Amino acid sequence: MILRSKTSWSRLLVAGLLQLQLLRACLAVLRYSNGFFYDDNGNGNGKKEIYFNGVRLHVESEEAAVFGVRGGSVTLPCRFWYEPALSAPRRTRVKWSWQGADGPETEVLVALGSRHRSFGDFRGRARLSLQAPGQAALLLTGLRLNDTGRYRCEVIDGLEDQSVTIDLALRGVVFPYQPTGRRYQLNFSAAQQACEEQDSTLATFEQLFWAWEEGLDCYGPRNRQLHRYDAFCFSAALTGDVYFLQSPHGLNFSEALRACERGGSQAARVGQLYAAWRFAGLDRCDAGWLADGSLRYPITRPRQNCGPPEQGVRNFGFPSQNQKHGVYCYRAH
Ligand SMILES: *[C@@H]1O[C@H](CO)[C@@H](O)[C@H](O)[C@H]1NC(C)=O
Ligand SMILES: *[C@@H]1O[C@H](CO)[C@@H](O)[C@H](O)[C@H]1NC(C)=O
Ligand SMILES: *[C@@H]1O[C@H](CO)[C@@H](O)[C@H](O)[C@H]1NC(C)=O
Repeated sequence: MILRSKTSWSRLLVAGLLQLQLLRACLAVLRYSNGFFYDDNGNGNGKKEIYFNGVRLHVESEEAAVFGVRGGSVTLPCRFWYEPALSAPRRTRVKWSWQGADGPETEVLVALGSRHRSFGDFRGRARLSLQAPGQAALLLTGLRLNDTGRYRCEVIDGLEDQSVTIDLALRGVVFPYQPTGRRYQLNFSAAQQACEEQDSTLATFEQLFWAWEEGLDCYGPRNRQLHRYDAFCFSAALTGDVYFLQSPHGLNFSEALRACERGGSQAARVGQLYAAWRFAGLDRCDAGWLADGSLRYPITRPRQNCGPPEQGVRNFGFPSQNQKHGVYCYRAH
């Protein structure tokens, strides 16, 4: 999510909250009006019409939203049945598709009987859980930050199709980000790139909203600098470790990068520091270099001489690169 300079944060969220509730109301309607009725209004000369006279296909999911963790796996439930029950099984096709924040709907997987095929970024990571007749749950493994969004389970049986949608969200942390030298004026693709460079994605409205519900405003309105941030990024729990490294006389920026590399790791990116702070409780009252050239430190137990009395990642911006400090490194598992 990009915030224009001086946009009122709370006004934006209140407007968005309204949208979100409307969206949820629509979703609820979509979810519960998904039966259709085959009616034989022809002359009964089509086999399918006779077969389907008065038979309803139902598609349903027991969850409207599912949470996952980065790198983990998740099952998106979906099942279908006919009413009244059919005496013989039919060849039903199941199609799962995905829609990210504002993008088009793209195919994840199609299945016919026990055969299935997954597509694009989902190839090799998506399969159908077919334990019982009528089960069409999607199993997704190796979850990535950009897998979040709306998934549609569509059941097609030749004549008609019915579908239901399920939202996938990842547990994560939203943080404001302002890259050096590009103040105030990030367009969408530049903001997206800035977040990706910090091992995160541009936060979607829903992610921003959840962050706000969880108290993001402690580093929102109370921080007078807020209007200076251009992008809100989303980072999720890590599979690696962030740790602090120091040398007796301190490290300038290039020495800091090398120090991490010598230890077999890399200077941490901002999204990694936030994730370690939020999910691994990283707490260190020492300013350290990060990969983007900024200087920060993470506090989960606020105390004297460690910044404001709230938890947070303290930020000193982008100091001169010859200053001597410690460094935060990231090692992947
Ligand atoms: C999603 O992220 C992965 C890396 O985590 C990347 O390879 C892929 O291209 C991204 N997909 C999209 C649609 O941005
Ligand atoms: C976005 O900004 C970048 C850098 O400022 C620029 O190179 C790019 O052309 C811009 N893209 C659009 C679509 O305006
Ligand atoms: C950092 O220190 C090294 C010597 O260890 C020096 O060669 C380099 O120019 C310094 N870099 C900066 C940005 O001050």
